[in-house]
Amino acid sequence: MSNTRFGVALLGCGTVGGGVYELLNGQIKDIESKYGFQFDVRRILVRDPKKTRNGLKLGAGLLTTNFDDILHDSNVDVVVEVMGGETPTKEYLFEALRSGRHVITANKALMGAHGERLVEKARQHNRFFGFSASVTGFHQFVPSIVKSIMITELVGIFNGTTNFILTKLAQKSFDEVLQEAITLGYAEADHHNDTEGLDTRNKLIVASKLAFGVFLNYKDILVSGITGITKEDVGYAKELGYAIKLLGISRIVEDDKLTAFVGPALVPQTDPLARIEGVDNSIWVHDKFRGVQGMSAAGAGKDATAMAIFSDLVSVGRGEKTLWPDAALSHRNLKFTRNQLPASFYVRVDVRNQPGVLANISKHFARNKINITDVIQRSKVESPITAVVTSIVFMLGPTKQKSVQKVLDELGETTTLAGKPVMLRIEQSVQADATIAHSWEESAKSVRVAPLQPQTM
Ligand SMILES: NC(=O)c1ccc[n+]([C@@H]2O[C@H](COP(=O)([O-])OP(=O)(O)OC[C@H]3O[C@@H](n4cnc5c(N)ncnc54)[C@H](OP(=O)(O)O)[C@@H]3O)[C@@H](O)[C@H]2O)c1
Repeated sequence: MSNTRFGVALLGCGTVGGGVYELLNGQIKDIESKYGFQFDVRRILVRDPKKTRNGLKLGAGLLTTNFDDILHDSNVDVVVEVMGGETPTKEYLFEALRSGRHVITANKALMGAHGERLVEKARQHNRFFGFSASVTGFHQFVPSIVKSIMITELVGIFNGTTNFILTKLAQKSFDEVLQEAITLGYAEADHHNDTEGLDTRNKLIVASKLAFGVFLNYKDILVSGITGITKEDVGYAKELGYAIKLLGISRIVEDDKLTAFVGPALVPQTDPLARIEGVDNSIWVHDKFRGVQGMSAAGAGKDATAMAIFSDLVSVGRGEKTLWPDAALSHRNLKFTRNQLPASFYVRVDVRNQPGVLANISKHFARNKINITDVIQRSKVESPITAVVTSIVFMLGPTKQKSVQKVLDELGETTTLAGKPVMLRIEQSVQADATIAHSWEESAKSVRVAPLQPQTM
């Protein structure tokens, strides 16, 4: 391998693989003059070599359906995995590392489940392992967060598809917005990974490893998605001064305890996260020494993802080390807990419209020592005379999630409910202090708010 010329094999040539090929092949001269490296795509693994690939002009002999062709090609120095899935991808990457290739992947699901073992294998073989494209659409996030010393909290919108749906849900029903997202190419026909929060969970696992040095077990993380959120919830949240966002959160809850969870939450409209619209992502961290820092940008797509992969290729060229905290060197010794900090809550219950129903439900909250700070009651049909179902929204003062859940379980045992209740935490981009600040303006008085420093490549 010369120091400036690298042979690249792509595993996959779909949305992202096509973008990487276009970038490397179309900008050869620019890349060489700016960075001093040549990245030659020598092999591309696909399932169907006869497929037309959106006008991509692929050189003769590039495509193969046999991974062994790549493994035995001595001109391949770097394997870039953009095919997705865990099988056979994981085996391919372990083989590539064992054979002495550097590896770069965009695969969130693979990293969320096997990231630690893959990086360990790369280190055993003294090879670079790039994963920037698997955590957010903005590769600058990775070096910035790794340079932090004592992160106490990480809060982010990690999934563009769900953010698009939640942004549009004010105007249309969930199914209509989902259909629009599929038509625009923001959501796949099988959207469950996104809408059920699994994609957010996988990215949160990678981001938490970078922030806290802990590789979380995906089975430990409580995940709820957005399929239960309605147009009405978005409307009530707006009326109360909030936006609904699907958040991935990891934070220190006691000296040596780290928690992590994924779920839709109410975010004050004054918070920077509430202003993230469409398919963008945004991640905020609180570092004891560096203060509050956040970054927002396009969360996915061909170009943003290809650029994240390119930044890893430049790292290979420069002989940089893999930016993945070494488990053995972690100085914080954090243990995982499912215990969450108390929070304020939004609860919507749909109930049969009968006299005293509001007072009855309120009694359950009172018995469990939960303070109601605001109430909205609306009939589901226009005429109050014919209305049979009423939505009641309760805003609850700080309490434990399990106390709210207890009330909902109690209500479930009565005949009051006319549907599944919705319970959402109230969160914000980061907690500025140990006490929960209730708006971004309040928290901004005591912390430094600055963008994470973009890295020059
Ligand atoms: N799309 C995004 O915006 C985005 C953003 C960040 C990360 N990612 C990640 O990047 C990866 C790729 O995403 P994508 O959107 O580019 O997917 P995609 O458009 O479906 O492309 C997948 C490619 O991999 C090939 N492939 C799949 N399974 C294969 C197998 N078993 N053997 C050989 N080739 C196989 C396919 O070959 P054929 O073309 O012959 O079918 C196709 O070229 C995923 O892990 C995804 O999570 C995507």
